[in-house]
Amino acid sequence: MKKTITVFKGDGIGPEITDAVLAILQAAQAPLAYEVYSVGIPLYEQCGELISEEAFASFERNKVLLKSPITTPIGSGFRSINVLLRKKYDLYANVRPAKSNPAIATPFPDVDIVTFRENTEDLYVGVEEQIDADTVHATKIITRKASERIIEAAFRYAADNQRKRVTCVHKANILKMSDGLFLSIFHDIAKRYPTIESDDRIVDNMCMQLVQYPQRYDVLVMPNLYGDILSDLTSGLIGGLGLMPSANLGSEYAMFEAVHGSAPDIAGKHIANPTALLWSACMMLDHLGEQTVAARIRKAVDQVLADKKALTPDLGGSATTQQYTQAVIEAL
Ligand code: NAI
Ligand code: MG
Repeated sequence: MKKTITVFKGDGIGPEITDAVLAILQAAQAPLAYEVYSVGIPLYEQCGELISEEAFASFERNKVLLKSPITTPIGSGFRSINVLLRKKYDLYANVRPAKSNPAIATPFPDVDIVTFRENTEDLYVGVEEQIDADTVHATKIITRKASERIIEAAFRYAADNQRKRVTCVHKANILKMSDGLFLSIFHDIAKRYPTIESDDRIVDNMCMQLVQYPQRYDVLVMPNLYGDILSDLTSGLIGGLGLMPSANLGSEYAMFEAVHGSAPDIAGKHIANPTALLWSACMMLDHLGEQTVAARIRKAVDQVLADKKALTPDLGGSATTQQYTQAVIEAL
């Protein structure tokens, strides 16, 4: 039976890469039905909302969302709709796999790092307070509940996917209470997974280590802010944001999106690379139990990347989004 999923087309390059991914999913005969919604700036200009009630309702029915990037307008009064979605649906685990592809030349071969970023708290609760004209306080929140579930998710993933090691990233030497709590929970949960190695790194040292010896690292787990920053760093190790998918998982809902944004600088030029969104769709297929279809798509992409004839400009080629998409469909 076909599973119905919700699709948000996003803005900027969002519609272009969504069309590409839907064409590939259809060509791969993924057993899915789609409820597709235009969201983001064009909708906002029409009716003052970035996401319509119908679009939210569709996600609430289907529980699974494939989401394209949405621009966060700069200026007061706007909180990121992406942060809002993660909070509203309690998508507490942001999973970001960075795996080297043999066809993409980088100074760092053999990187295979999965970052588990806590997705609901830390400095991203957005509580800032003007104390006086020259002083602002921002609130960092770390709770036992949120820390336990992200750390547990990282160890469970390691156990289920034959990964060897989980590393906790923190700044508990300075933030003794908040990151200290996160780290102590990490050590407690690690005891329940005796077959998986566990250790921890202070975040600044971790940045250096990831650039010098990325091959040494496996699964990483950390609070929200460090996860935001380090997962962009790991995407740089494998060839850039155009190649970095993500899953945002909660106990009821799941949302899959590329790590990159709406790329306004190249929107409408038909040169956006849809691979990150496509690999996010593959994570979605895995989540839905459709691993065979996901594996076929990944294999077709690997073939097109290795072949190098249909690479988009971000990967050094000159293919359009459509030409790349067509090449993947032919490889399928
Ligand atoms: P960005 O990720 O959109 O772009 C950074 C650079 O990477 C640009 O040069 C862009 O052309 C390039 N790039 C990104 N994705 C690409 C792709 N698929 N193919 C080829 N090149 C690609 O980051 P930026 O410019 O900081 O953000 C633009 C907007 O996106 C902002 O409004 C931001 O708030 C929003 N954003 C939304 C996200 C989401 O919806 N989850 C995540 C990150 C940013
Ligand atoms: Mg980010």
